[in-house]
Amino acid sequence: MSRLQLGVFASGRGSNFKSILKEIKGGRLDADIKLLITNNKDAGVLKIASLNSIHCAVMKRSDFKMREDFITKMLTVLKSRGVEFIVLAGYMKKIPPEVISKYKHRILNIHPALLPCFGGRGMYGTNVHRAVLESGCKLTGVTVHLVDNQYDHGPIVNQKSIPVKNNDTAEKLAARVLKGEHEIYPQTIQLFAEGRVKIYGKKVIIKKK
Ligand code: GRF
Repeated sequence: MSRLQLGVFASGRGSNFKSILKEIKGGRLDADIKLLITNNKDAGVLKIASLNSIHCAVMKRSDFKMREDFITKMLTVLKSRGVEFIVLAGYMKKIPPEVISKYKHRILNIHPALLPCFGGRGMYGTNVHRAVLESGCKLTGVTVHLVDNQYDHGPIVNQKSIPVKNNDTAEKLAARVLKGEHEIYPQTIQLFAEGRVKIYGKKVIIKKK
């Protein structure tokens, strides 16, 4: 089985990036991270990538006069590093449609709630957990889904539920959900590495081993 060649897009501290790397190093994820793309030159994830000798590209739309040049640069760097599968790990920008169509069904995102609830524009960070608490839901969780042209909308590949506790705050809940993210994101990427994911429109089926 060949190893999945990953490009990770991230904007922040990079705890998911770290957990993916840990599973790769531990031999539980048959993949290599070939590239990190970030829009944020101060992102903590850059430090993790450089410490692990992973190629980094800081790419901001505002650094390019023409949108086309930004997209061409993004596609060129992805190709030059041999990226065949993209993982979004806290990337705070929309992926250009040109990149989505080039990597059709090969871009994953992780969301800190059970989609299709608590997703979409503005639903990121503690906003999500605050909305969950306000709703009175007894369950929240993590969703790993394929990326399409709408926020938090593509086919759902994997989910993990996490109970909401009576004394939860958004911060406490965020910490438990993040732990769940670190478990299921590498596991879900491994399903792709094993070629076990079949996509039928919005429905995704995981083939048995
Ligand atoms: C995670 O909560 C993830 O669900 C969301 O962005 C956050 C990224 O966290 N998409 P980290 O940078 O991986 O720690």
